[in-house]
Amino acid sequence: MRSTAQAVKIAENVYWVGAIDWGIRDFHGYSTSRGSTYNAYLVLGDKNVLVDTVKAPFFDEMAARIASVLPPSGIDYIISNHAEMDHSGALPKTIELIGPEKVFCSKNGADALKRHFGPNLDLTVVKTGDKLDLGGKTISFIETKMLHWPDSMFSYLHEDRILFSQDAFGMHLATAKLFDDEIDSSIVEAEAEKYYANILMPYSDLVLKLLEQLPSLGLEFKMLATDHGPIWRGKGIPKIISLYGKWARQEASDRAIIIFDTMWGSTAKMAMSIADGVAAGGSDVKLLPLNSNHRSDIVTELLDSGAIALGSPTLNNNIFPTVADLLCYLKGFRPKNKIGAAFGSYGWSGEAIKLLDAAIKEMKVDAVSAPLSCKYVPSRDDLAKCFELGKTISQRLKNKKS
Ligand code: FEO
Repeated sequence: MRSTAQAVKIAENVYWVGAIDWGIRDFHGYSTSRGSTYNAYLVLGDKNVLVDTVKAPFFDEMAARIASVLPPSGIDYIISNHAEMDHSGALPKTIELIGPEKVFCSKNGADALKRHFGPNLDLTVVKTGDKLDLGGKTISFIETKMLHWPDSMFSYLHEDRILFSQDAFGMHLATAKLFDDEIDSSIVEAEAEKYYANILMPYSDLVLKLLEQLPSLGLEFKMLATDHGPIWRGKGIPKIISLYGKWARQEASDRAIIIFDTMWGSTAKMAMSIADGVAAGGSDVKLLPLNSNHRSDIVTELLDSGAIALGSPTLNNNIFPTVADLLCYLKGFRPKNKIGAAFGSYGWSGEAIKLLDAAIKEMKVDAVSAPLSCKYVPSRDDLAKCFELGKTISQRLKNKKS
């Protein structure tokens, strides 16, 4: 085994044995500017269990961390909380290495894992309420269907009050520090919010339902051990649960984002005048030109905003490509409780503005006005209309807040 990686003890007979991906910068369209981790955990009782595995290329790192605690063949069970390949890619090699008695997963997990690795994979299906007695340690399973895949589930370690929560409460942050309170809190909160916005926002209603159900499960949490980024403990636990409630509710906010791209500066001028109007109305505003803002950062900004103004020039009778890319990404997030408007410049045909207006309405964003357009270059009158649109957006935001 060509790795010197070591396990890290997180509780008595519980170890982190995951992998750190320092170099990843693009996680299928999500900009992971601070890298990521793929967390796996080892729980030792009379029987020993590995909770989740890692992305396939990180198998050696995980295997070395396991071997620093016990020979891999000493593991009796594997739990697969989530079938997505960043946590199950190394599963076949891990099964080969360990030779476990059983591999536990949800019913949908069995379907997903067999479709990835073949029908002969030997899996034991568990459901909410099932318990695994390890002798000295007890694990319960809680299915969390569609948070964020059909197979997703949590595992709860009773004796140590640790919730292995797979993607939930996670973040893409490569770190050798294992706990949230060991890392700059502004970084941890920013990355947790970006992760929520880009992975969980479309399932916000289910998140709210789960948060409502949690107290009735009667579980206390000493750690939320996610599959990405640091483990939450102490004050971090109520903090992240409360933030999840806030993000899932997508509460009205007195803040607008103005997203646009531009060819020769005309749509940019319109964007700036709209922003000036929003600011003059007393609301917070942020300009997000697409030539310098990644789509996954824009979705994070959207989570915190009550209004979205989208601008595009018309290019070849269509929306500008960067704006079309963003729209395609945004539509899947089903944002809630937003107002908005479309704007843009054109030379002779002007289709982009109509397409943008239709897209905004399709996303169920409440349009505050007819779309604003200008021919070639915005006149003083055009910019005054943009300024007024900004003021209208601000007024509507304030009305919603009151
Ligand atoms: Fe981290 Fe849904 O996988």
